[in-house]
Amino acid sequence: MPESFFVLSKEYLELATDEIIAIAKMYDRFAKTRIISNLVIIQSKTNWSKITKRASFVKTSGQVLRKMSGLFLDEGNFEVLKNAKTFVCRIINLSSNQFNIPELENSMGDMISKFSHAKVELENPDITVYLIFTNKENFFGFSKRIKKKGKPKKVKNHPHQLDWRLTRIMINLIGIREGGTICDPFCGTGTTLLEAESMGIHAIGIDFDKKMYEISKENLRVNGYKSKIFNADFRELQKFSEKIDGIVTDLPYGRASKLSEKPEEILKEFFSIISKRKKIAIMYKKELDRDLKLDGAKKYKIYRHKSLTRTILIK
Ligand SMILES: C[S@@+](CC[C@H](N)C(=O)[O-])C[C@H]1O[C@@H](n2cnc3c(N)ncnc32)[C@H](O)[C@@H]1O
Repeated sequence: MPESFFVLSKEYLELATDEIIAIAKMYDRFAKTRIISNLVIIQSKTNWSKITKRASFVKTSGQVLRKMSGLFLDEGNFEVLKNAKTFVCRIINLSSNQFNIPELENSMGDMISKFSHAKVELENPDITVYLIFTNKENFFGFSKRIKKKGKPKKVKNHPHQLDWRLTRIMINLIGIREGGTICDPFCGTGTTLLEAESMGIHAIGIDFDKKMYEISKENLRVNGYKSKIFNADFRELQKFSEKIDGIVTDLPYGRASKLSEKPEEILKEFFSIISKRKKIAIMYKKELDRDLKLDGAKKYKIYRHKSLTRTILIK
């Protein structure tokens, strides 16, 4: 079974690690994963580029060619360069050892040039060959150039809008596949709807504030997206319950956006109306769930500033 490697950004490492594992398991429930600090090795039938395209915090990824016992490379490993015109070598050092990286990359490039007709190109080569050092083991791998879809356009913004990467992570953590449907009952500027649709997922948005509803509508329109959106109270989501696979939302904080009732009451009410079997990924101000008993949920803390830490809850 092929192995892929994913070097993750350390910004939200726990979330990023869980996200990559969730994507791998969503596409292949038999995928096996190994975590070595911010490197995740996945053994699966799913190609590394398919997983990378869904993920939010992958810095570098590719296919593992083999585990290395030393720095010895041989001709057999360069099969992958057969049809490539250009390549570059990159060292990723996640170990505590110090290496002269430019020197190593140069000598690896020289070595590969002896086996292959491909020429070194630093920017945008056909193939990137990686040597990854960790304190436990070293890996030799490669990646091909991949086309990532551009981000959806957002012509109308608002201070309370969500970071698109966190939105995407929430969708991935509940494992919504392409073709599935999610609902954001507090959709604001429509970040969740835009992100979902760019991932091939249908979305339904609700916002009780007419202004926010219009903003969302406009943001969807400029992208040519077809998500449905309603200017209504979040309780309306009960009407779509049968149609949706999950709920992904960012609850009101009572700061920049309009409120129908206190944020803690909204959170309580939200849990009382949704089906226990629905997958949910929600974000809210950390203190709000003090009185709520939520079994089987996983929580992540997102520090924003001194007076705002948010919780992402996945269930
Ligand atoms: C934190 S904002 C959501 C931001 C959104 N994720 C984005 O990226 O723009 C919360 C939204 O909930 C809406 N809202 C507040 N109370 C509501 C209710 N009872 N029903 C539906 N929407 C409500 C507000 O109008 C606001 O747009």
